[in-house]
Amino acid sequence: MNAMDKEKITTVIEKTGQAYMSDEGKYNQDCLIPMLQALQQVLGFLPQEAVEALNRATGIPVSRIYGVISFYEQFKLEPDGKYKITVCRGTACHVHGGEKIIDTIREILDIDEGGKTADNLFSFDTVPCLGACALAPVVVINKTYHGKMNTQKTRKRIEQIRSGENRSDD
Ligand code: FES
Repeated sequence: MNAMDKEKITTVIEKTGQAYMSDEGKYNQDCLIPMLQALQQVLGFLPQEAVEALNRATGIPVSRIYGVISFYEQFKLEPDGKYKITVCRGTACHVHGGEKIIDTIREILDIDEGGKTADNLFSFDTVPCLGACALAPVVVINKTYHGKMNTQKTRKRIEQIRSGENRSDD
């Protein structure tokens, strides 16, 4: 973790924590989840340094912080792969073949939802709705939305990324 990341952690804790600070300058325990969300948004995951900084600032025990992180699926202790593939499992996508796309990704990458390939190139997740139902089924690779997807297009896109060809989703 570099100095810039450490600075980001301090800034996020101070900024997010303002709303949870008592007149005596102590953090209310309700600050934990919003602070974890804010830290993950900025850092992409929750490194040990962020947990320790949170513990120092708030006095909330490290074991409790890790307990909350492991309880909620939204929190991650490791960074995503270079290409984060998110597939919608909402109703519109489901009826247009979203499940087959999910199975294809599992098969090609040999990982399950929430997983990451050993070379750190891909991570894979599903979400309830990507808010683009008219384009169903939808796959997002990093920040690029791919609508009207099917298994062949998904397979091709993954192969292109693997081969270093057409990395427009970078
Ligand atoms: S159901 Fe897939 S984008 Fe809404």
